[in-house]
Amino acid sequence: MSAQVQLPSQVEAAVVRGADDQFALEKLELSPLGPFDVLVKIAGVGMCHTDLALRGPAGAPLRPIVLGHEGSGVVVAVGSGVGKVTAGDSVVISYDSCGACGSCRSGRPYFCRTWFDLNTGPAASRPHATLTDAEGEPVNNSCFGQSSFAEYSVASHHNVVKVDPELPLEILGPLGCGLQTGAGAIVNVLQVRPGQSVVVFGAGAVGLAAVMAARICGASAVVAVDLVEGRRQLAREVGATHALDGAAPDLPDQLQRITSGADCAFDTTGKSAVIATAVNALAQGGTCALAAFEDELRLPTQQIVFGRRLTGVVEGNAVPDVFIPRMIDWWQAGVFPFDKLIERFPLREINEAADASVSGRVVKPVLIP
Ligand SMILES: NC(=O)c1ccc[n+]([C@@H]2O[C@H](COP(=O)([O-])OP(=O)(O)OC[C@H]3O[C@@H](n4cnc5c(N)ncnc54)[C@H](O)[C@@H]3O)[C@@H](O)[C@H]2O)c1
Ligand SMILES: [Zn+2]
Ligand SMILES: [Zn+2]
Repeated sequence: MSAQVQLPSQVEAAVVRGADDQFALEKLELSPLGPFDVLVKIAGVGMCHTDLALRGPAGAPLRPIVLGHEGSGVVVAVGSGVGKVTAGDSVVISYDSCGACGSCRSGRPYFCRTWFDLNTGPAASRPHATLTDAEGEPVNNSCFGQSSFAEYSVASHHNVVKVDPELPLEILGPLGCGLQTGAGAIVNVLQVRPGQSVVVFGAGAVGLAAVMAARICGASAVVAVDLVEGRRQLAREVGATHALDGAAPDLPDQLQRITSGADCAFDTTGKSAVIATAVNALAQGGTCALAAFEDELRLPTQQIVFGRRLTGVVEGNAVPDVFIPRMIDWWQAGVFPFDKLIERFPLREINEAADASVSGRVVKPVLIP
């Protein structure tokens, strides 16, 4: 760390403590940086559905915690072992990985053997600078190796991606999770080819990024399915050739009429009944990719036996250092208009932002500290 940099000793952050699911801003104490830490002054941070899941019962073992895992900002200081970025660099922060296991060394950090520990574990195994509250008690700041619902985030050299300082930094954070997951599902997992048909279930940030990426890949039919009319409208605006009501009783017939059996399907709802519809909509030989987990899955085995495939998606199976610059190129070329999904909120209005996301009114809140 360079000697002349004055580190903040206090950080304002949105903390989740109790079962009431509310975020509350607190001043927290920051400890000195570890060797591989990258301290980032957050310019903006997206709110992903996973943050909302982790503020609920699923996140109870992690509390008290600073959530937030779609941060972007400017590097303030780096640990002694960091060579990848330096103070003053603009970065997007993505999911964390260890860089050392067999998966990481073979170029698949999304399958890092310590992925859950590093990204959603009670305490990440990597030593890093920590936060403590006014009583001196620790507050978890390991959410996806960033905990960026805060003024400052302690990221690592594994999960920061340097970007052009001329870009609108405050809206780039969602490229690090939700947008990467949707676009990567299409490009890296389903590997959609020109002329193919794609059905996307759920038109949130993940699903809409998939819609945009499917058009980029040259899909001839890109069908979005959602329960909310506003989201179906947005899907049409960003490139869906069709947008259907997920509650329509004749949805399977509509999908059959449009695609004659889809080549690819992508589920972002995590609901067993929706996934069964998705698999049923496939042609033989087609593949359905899953990004969300809610239910136990029940499927007629016959559909799989006759050559349909089911697979999973972790962060778009994307290498952030490669894929985030690629999405930025698409955005600059006008074919990946993710900014249409974003509404900005001050960080102090984080509970209102969460309400707007849950109600479906806002697809991707971006919080500005
Ligand atoms: N696998 C990963 O790496 C990864 C990464 C990011 C997010 N996720 C998960 O992906 C999911 C989607 O994230 P998001 O931010 O887009 O969430 P979101 O809540 O904004 O989007 C989900 C959409 O599904 C729609 N929906 C719900 N039930 C439906 C039904 N029966 N039929 C059709 N549409 C229905 C909702 O109206 C909503 O628009 C979440 O579960 C999130 O946790 C996974
Ligand atoms: Zn996420
Ligand atoms: Zn690893």
